[in-house]
Amino acid sequence: MIMLKNDEQMDGIRTSGHYLAEMFEEIGPQICAGMSTYDVDKLFHEWMRKRHFGAPCVGYMGYPAATCVSVNDMVIHGIPTKQEILEDGDIVSVDICLERNGYISDSTHTYEIGTVSPEVHKLNEVTHKALYLGIEAASAKGARTQAIARAVYDWCAVKNGYGVVRDYCGHGVGFEMHEEPDIPNYVSLANPNPRLKPGMVIAIEPMINMGTYKIRTMPDGWGVKTADGKPACHWEHTVAITADGLEILTQL
Ligand code: MF3
Ligand code: CO
Repeated sequence: MIMLKNDEQMDGIRTSGHYLAEMFEEIGPQICAGMSTYDVDKLFHEWMRKRHFGAPCVGYMGYPAATCVSVNDMVIHGIPTKQEILEDGDIVSVDICLERNGYISDSTHTYEIGTVSPEVHKLNEVTHKALYLGIEAASAKGARTQAIARAVYDWCAVKNGYGVVRDYCGHGVGFEMHEEPDIPNYVSLANPNPRLKPGMVIAIEPMINMGTYKIRTMPDGWGVKTADGKPACHWEHTVAITADGLEILTQL
C-alpha cells in the first residue's frame, strides 16, 4: 500500500531531508584520495551521531554501516572497509538514509576524486542530469511512475548509450526506508504504473552503467558491481509530490 503523508508528516520528512542535504554539503568536500571507504562512512556517521539522528542503514537486514560507499564499478551497496583506499581518478557514490523524529530521507551523491577521465566525468554529468529529468517528469500533474523511467531511460540509454540498471529501483520513503511504490528507471509493461498523488514521498535514483546494464552481486551479499567491470554512477533525491507539483526534500 502507498502511504500518503499528511502536512505534519511531510514537515517531518522535509526536516530530515534538510539535514541530509546539509550533511552532504558539509562533508562532501572533505572526501579525497587517501581516505578509505570506512573513513568516508565514519565522517557521515559521526555527523549524524553528534546530532542524535538515526542511521537506518545500520542493521538493516544485517547491513553493517551507516552509508553505502560504492567505488568505480560498484554500482550500489558497497560496504565501507578500511582496506579500500580512494585514489585519484576514482568515482565514489555515497548513499545515505537519515532518520530524525522517526522520519526518513534518502539521498546519494557521486564524487569525483581528483581528476577523473573525460569518459567518467561524462557518466557522472549524464547521471546527475538523469536525476533531474526524472524529477521533472514526476512533477507533471497526474504523472505516473513510468514517466520517470521513460525520462531516465531515454536520456541515459537511448541518447547516451549507457546501461540502465534494471534489477534495482527507487522507492517510496518517509516512514520506512523502502515503501511502495517502486520507482524503476527502466520501462517494462509488466511493472505497475501508479499515478503520483499529492502526499506521496518518493526516492528517485538513477543507477547508470557506462557499459552493460547487467550487474552481479558480490560474495558479501551486498555489493553490486557492473557485470563488465566498467564504471557506474548513482544519484538520488527524496522528493514530495505536492498540490502544486513537486518539492525536492534533500536539496538546500
Ligand atoms: N539507501 C539505499 C536506497 O537507496 C538502501 C541502502 S540498503 C542498506 O534504497 F542496507 F544499506 F541500508
Ligand atoms: Co533509495
